[in-house]
Parts: sequence; structure tokens; C-alpha cells
Amino acid sequence: YDTNVAPSSTADKNSFAFISARDRWPIILTSAIDDVHRAVSKETDAEKQEEGKSITQGLAKLKYELQHDRQLTPLLDDGQPDIASYNAELEARGNPRWFDVAWLYAECYLYRRMATLFSTSTHWKRYDVFSKQKMSTFRSSRPAVLELAARYNDMTRQLASGHSVLDNASEEEREKAEQTLFTEMCEICLWGNATDLSLLTNLSYEDIQKLQGSESRKANEEKIIVNDFAAAFACLKTAQKADAKERRVDIVLDNAGFELFVDLVLAGYLLESGLATQIVLHPKNIPWFVSDVVPKDFSDLLTVLVNAKHFYETPSEDEKADGVSPETLSEADAANMKTLFESWSALYAEGKMLLRPNGFWTEGGSYWRMPKTASSLFDDLKESELVIFKGDLNYRKLTGDALWDPATPFTEAIGPLGPASGIRVLTLRTCKADVVVGLPKGKDEELRAMEGGGGDSGARKWAWSGKWAVVSFCDGKA
Ligand code: F6P
Ligand code: MG
Repeated sequence: YDTNVAPSSTADKNSFAFISARDRWPIILTSAIDDVHRAVSKETDAEKQEEGKSITQGLAKLKYELQHDRQLTPLLDDGQPDIASYNAELEARGNPRWFDVAWLYAECYLYRRMATLFSTSTHWKRYDVFSKQKMSTFRSSRPAVLELAARYNDMTRQLASGHSVLDNASEEEREKAEQTLFTEMCEICLWGNATDLSLLTNLSYEDIQKLQGSESRKANEEKIIVNDFAAAFACLKTAQKADAKERRVDIVLDNAGFELFVDLVLAGYLLESGLATQIVLHPKNIPWFVSDVVPKDFSDLLTVLVNAKHFYETPSEDEKADGVSPETLSEADAANMKTLFESWSALYAEGKMLLRPNGFWTEGGSYWRMPKTASSLFDDLKESELVIFKGDLNYRKLTGDALWDPATPFTEAIGPLGPASGIRVLTLRTCKADVVVGLPKGKDEELRAMEGGGGDSGARKWAWSGKWAVVSFCDGKA
């Protein structure tokens, strides 16, 4: 069910696939080993300690196999239905080696294999090896979080009052203003993706903070090289005008922490403004690509909001070691966070915002397979006015992570989710991988020619850094 266009492969030395396999995955595995090692050393239960040690050995073995270009081995059966298809696909691919395998499959396999080490244990079944990292990066995005919390509360107060500076404006002016606000909310949500943890191996905390403030967002508008926000707004507005009772928007989530926070800002805004009546959020079932959202990250985030003072004022391990005490949180900021907690938990309690996990999201293949291998999910998404796919990995999966000519229309590159699918697709993706489509002719060449863009090396380096973005829409009609 996949595209016939060749996939991005770890064998291609000019690709980010190769760099990921060679440089990034070993770092990710090392920090997972450290995390479990630390957890083991704090453990008092001897049996759990022993089991934890064998998990670190399993992780070390995986790292060894990767770094020595061994073959990928069949996954341990942990009782979940996806294992059989992972293993069947491994065989169908001819039991490839780490440095000669389709990037997308291998990277999914990597995280799925890590997950089996925990899921087949007795005492570590629900342990999320990336949880601490997710929380600590979220904590470091404090300035942007506080800024957005204040803005969000102002906005919802205004929307709830039914009055604004536009009270005397014409219908047309009002809609224009609404579209501007919609676009800004989506941009916040888009750039929130630039900061995922699996890329932290090359971005500093300072870079991240810079990416998150409102000023940088404005400056970044020209970095959105495909921009279909207007079409997405039009589809929600049309549905609203048609007065349809149920108008659902789906968000296929990407990362926890700051990105989830901004996703909820967008979700809350869509509900409060009446552009949607229900938001369905799609998290992962297992720890995934370091920073992706699992259901517990959602509840952890709400807990942070309600206990913001405690969260920000309790020194982290590093702060303790350096003897640094964190800045206190002002009463006003703490109150804003609390208000946010109240409004989001009310939306959740009323069923207007809900989580809907599905095993499909952590399978090893692209979304081209969805109609055949996850037909009920496919049908479910047709019920939505708009399905927003967040982040880089979702984009890779939509396009099959294939080596498309960058001028290929997006609607063609997403195959069965394209025209006539009945699903309206919107991607909010900052580019962190080689695949990119929907560009005007010549744009790729232009970007390659820029400093750091890759030049004549044959590598599309501009597309690796998360500094450029593509917002692509397909209306799913025949
Ligand atoms: O390119 C780096 C990378 O880790 C890719 O492997 C993956 O597609 C992506 O980043 C994850 O990013 P995101 O969280 O935006 O999906
Ligand atoms: Mg991610």
C-alpha cells in the first residue's frame, strides 16, 4: 500500500537518515540508559533493581548492534498486535542492517524495540524512559508558557464577553480579524514543534527559548514556505456558517511539554471562538520518538498548571547540584496558570476536548496504509471537519518518507489520504528531515544555495534544522 517512490534510507550518506542513525540514535539510547540507571540506583526493591539492570543491558545491546551495523532482529512479543506486522515487515525487507534500511521503518522499529524491553518486564511496564526529559524541557520553556497563559486568558475573557474592539466593524472586517487570530494561533502551534527533544542533540536551550517568544513568531512568517492557513480557516468558517451542530477538529499530536501546551492553546481557542465544537486529540500508546505525547503527559501537564508554583520553584537535580535556586513565580502568573487549568479541565470534563489513542500511530509504516490497516480510524477521521497533523514525523508518515521531487503536489504525495479520501488534512510541520513536497519549482535549489542550505553537496541540509516550515492542506474531495 506504500508509494512506489523510493524511501529515504540510512544508506544514503547525504541524508539526515544517515546522520540520525550514526549520531543521534546512539545519543538517545545513551540517555535512556542513564535514565534507567539512575532510576535503578534510587530503587529499594531488589527484584525491581535487577530487572532494571537487565533493561539497561537490553538498551546497551541495541546501541551496540546499531553502532556495529548489525541486522535488525525480530521484536520480542509483548502481546500487542503490532509486533507480528513489525516482524513480518522486517522479514519482507530481507532482515536489513542498520545502515541500509528505510529510515522510517528503522526509526519506528528503534522506539518499538525500546518499548518491548519495558513492556515485557514485571516492574517497569508503565515506565516512560523519556518522561523526565520531557518535563525538564517543558520547565525550561517557562517564559513562553507564562506569556501564552496570560494571552490565552485575555482572549477567552474577551470571547466570552461577546464584545470586542470590532463591535462596530462590518461582517467582512470581523471575519478578516478572525482569520488573523486563527492564523496566529496556528503559528504558535506550528513553531511549538520546532523544539522537540529528539533534535535537542543539536539545538541549545537558548535557541529553543528564542524560538518560542511572540517576537520570533512574527519574524518567522517568511520561513513558512508553503502556507495554506487561509484554506484551513475557510473550511472551518464554512462549517460554522452552515450552522452544523457538531463540528469536530482532530489534532494528531506530536510532542509533549511546550508543544502539547500550545496544541491545547489552539484547541481551546477553536472551541471558545466557535470554530469547532469538539476537539479530538490523538496521543501515542507508548513512549515514542523521545518527546511524543502519551496520555500521561496530558494529565502531567494539567497537574503542572494547578501546582505551577511548586513546579517552577522546586529546584531541578541540576539546579540542586549547582546550588541555584529557581526564580519564584509571581502570584499573577500562578493565578493565570490556575485559570488555564480550570478552563481546560472544564472543556475536558464536558467532553469537548478528548483523547483518543490508537495503536496505528506507532506502527512501522506510513499513513498510506491507513485505509487498509486501520480502516475504522480512517472512517473516524472522515467525521472531522479538519485533521491537523503536527510535526515532522507525521509529515514523513503522510508522504511515505519518500524521495519525492519537492515540486510534487502535496495532494499527490499523501496518496490515499489525498483527493477523494473524505478527510481534510492540514499539516503543521517544521522541517526536520529530507522529505518535502508542494514547493514552487526552483525553491529547493534556492534554499540549498543559502548559507548552510547544503549547496552542491547533494544534501538538502536546509530541511533538517526545524527553521523552515510547511503548512499544507488537502480538502479530501474527489
Ligand atoms: O529529524 C529528526 C527527527 O528526530 C526525525 O527523526 C523525526 O522525524 C523528527 O525529528 C521528530 O520530530 P517531530 O517531533 O517534529 O515529529
Ligand atoms: Mg515528536
